[in-house]
Amino acid sequence: MSQPTPITFQSIDIDTLATATGRVAVFVTPEGKLDHAARRANRLTKGVLARLIKSESFAKAKPGQVITLAWPTGMAAEALDVLVIARRLTAIEARKAGAALARAKGDKALLVMAGNMTRAADLALGLALRDYRFDAHKTDANDADNMAGDITIAHNRPDDMEQALAPGLAVAEGVRMTRDLVNEPANVLTTGEFADRLVEMQNLGLKVEVLEEDQLEKLGMRTLLCVGQGSDSPSKVVVMQWNGGEKDAPPLALVGKGVVFDTGGISIKPAAGMEDMTMDMGGAGVVAGTMRALAQRNAKANVVGLVGLVENMPSGNAVRPGDVIRSMKGDTVEVINTDAEGRLVLCDVMWYAQERFEPAGMIDLATLTGAIIIGLGHENAGVFSNDDALCNRFLKAAKAEGEGAWRMPLGQVYDDLLKSRIADMKNIGGRAAGSITAAQFLQRFVKDETPWIHLDIAGVALTKTATDYAPKGATGWGVMALNRLVADMFEQE
Ligand code: BES
Ligand code: MN
Ligand code: ZN
Repeated sequence: MSQPTPITFQSIDIDTLATATGRVAVFVTPEGKLDHAARRANRLTKGVLARLIKSESFAKAKPGQVITLAWPTGMAAEALDVLVIARRLTAIEARKAGAALARAKGDKALLVMAGNMTRAADLALGLALRDYRFDAHKTDANDADNMAGDITIAHNRPDDMEQALAPGLAVAEGVRMTRDLVNEPANVLTTGEFADRLVEMQNLGLKVEVLEEDQLEKLGMRTLLCVGQGSDSPSKVVVMQWNGGEKDAPPLALVGKGVVFDTGGISIKPAAGMEDMTMDMGGAGVVAGTMRALAQRNAKANVVGLVGLVENMPSGNAVRPGDVIRSMKGDTVEVINTDAEGRLVLCDVMWYAQERFEPAGMIDLATLTGAIIIGLGHENAGVFSNDDALCNRFLKAAKAEGEGAWRMPLGQVYDDLLKSRIADMKNIGGRAAGSITAAQFLQRFVKDETPWIHLDIAGVALTKTATDYAPKGATGWGVMALNRLVADMFEQE
């Protein structure tokens, strides 16, 4: 996994302002009030900050923005980052401010003069989330000389802040794992490599099992297996259990679509943009990152994560359009389009999750449909649910973490679109309501008594432009919301 930049809290030594190399950040309020460190920086630079706050660019600056002054006189630093920040702010605002500092940081060392800021741990979390680069395959970046500089936050209660940050850093590590998995190309992240990385998490106290093709065959997971049958990489289901809660309390089940590459199969996709289908394991990536976060922060909850790992390839023995396949549940599916493969993978894993664990709730995550991108863009994941209470809890958690999520409808009329002439159902509806008919397909594999949420993350898992918390590429969307949902559901006194 890519290594996070170390973040340490330190007690304040105002003299380091002059001597620190790399970058130094100080705080100014939107009204132009300088805190103690900013006043000292102003003195060292012979009044640069006083001039800045009278300038037009400062008047235009928004809270949370960073104004960089390069090579400040009187200081050893090569940049003075002036963070425009209110004295009182929400956790999300503090996080975004930290992310803005990380964006400016590059690979230099950074000293943040945070004074007595109460939300310094949130600011640090924003730094940790945004200070991410996927350069595993950049030759130069892996020279020892090019390692990124550390982050130091000077605060008058460093120990308290360090303690407040610890659970946040655990979650940030989960986010990082998700991003690394999603960014990894498909020739590296094969089904085998994916499973190996999950097995490694045993050292965090997770129980991890890998079900191989012969076992999946015995279980009757034919719809999952048919997706992978054209690939040289064997299909696998990985089960990760975190039992930090009450003994025998039913777990929350997280189920992820892990298509390591989606060519579309015999219903092959057009060439343009096909390379993005290396991210089609995004759902499984979020499940993995969430399990990591829960283990790392020692969550008092029972959660089981299951991922279906397959590769969708065309070949002489690939599944064909028109084939009829029997699912583990027993229902038969007419495969009209081999590119609607995610639902074929999920339906067997979801059924298995319910049969084996009788979960208190089940949430599946998948980069399931292009249609959800048409509907909601890259700002919101599509949320589908059979249970208002669970759904509202999730939406609340997502909102609190700043992760966009928007509920979509389900209903019998959509389900009717899946009727097949020769089997129990088809694997696609039609062009209309593509994301909803995909969700309807999944709901056929949800037991009435299981509260369930389906998250279509095709638009949010990977973006072409940077988001608040992530550079362009994989975002890790969902890890923070799910982590909070688990805390809300199981860890309230
Ligand atoms: N993995 C794709 C969905 C997708 C598209 C994810 C774009 C991310 C970006 C999925 O397997 C797929 O191919 N869906 C088809 C379904 C159709 C055949 C009913 C789609 O959305 O076109
Ligand atoms: Mn597909
Ligand atoms: Zn797919």
